[in-house]
Amino acid sequence: MKFFIDTANLKDIQEANELGILDGVTTNPSLMAKEGITGKDNIEKHYQKICEIVQGDVSAEVISTDYEGIVKEGTHLASLAENIVVKVPMIKDGVKAIRHFTDNGIATNCTLVFSSAQAILAAKAGATYVSPFIGRIDDTNWDGMELIKEMAEIYAIQGFETQILAASIRSSRHIVEAAKNGADVCTCPLSAILGMLKHPLTDNGLAQFLADYKKGNG
Ligand code: E4P
Repeated sequence: MKFFIDTANLKDIQEANELGILDGVTTNPSLMAKEGITGKDNIEKHYQKICEIVQGDVSAEVISTDYEGIVKEGTHLASLAENIVVKVPMIKDGVKAIRHFTDNGIATNCTLVFSSAQAILAAKAGATYVSPFIGRIDDTNWDGMELIKEMAEIYAIQGFETQILAASIRSSRHIVEAAKNGADVCTCPLSAILGMLKHPLTDNGLAQFLADYKKGNG
């Protein structure tokens, strides 16, 4: 399973990259706003900075919601760096635009996916990635992981090549469950990635090893 970091924070991206486990980055307009990045030029420069840090795929989301606008904006975003993936919302014009990008060799991430029906449409349009939002589904008292499981089953049966990118991840447990249920990629905040390191028995065991070493070696 690939690991993406879900942020526009350059420090967090750098830290995850230095761990040596990072395969890419996802951003969205809310994450950009959280970093105080506003205005078309600044946003584009920020994408370029991210692409300089990370070799893998970097999702850049379009703001347009009409077919012509999405195609124009996405084509421009894709020209900013070789590893840009155009992130397109799961709407009618978005699906049409994904087909256009697919036919023109531009990688896409179909975002805001909440059902297997939507996931089938994204795959039929040839999306590189499809992003089911696990945490937001859990917030509505449904089970986000059930969606990952069903999507993985459908994609395997149908032979779809679109990669399932588990998004809206809130914890390290979410990452484990997404891996178990067939996600190809998990995009997570740095806290969830670092949370995977934690186990009290590791901390206790290490403290004991170091104490025993100190007893014998001064
Ligand atoms: C990533 O592609 C999504 O935009 C992101 O994971 C959404 O996460 P949130 O539900 O925590 O905002």
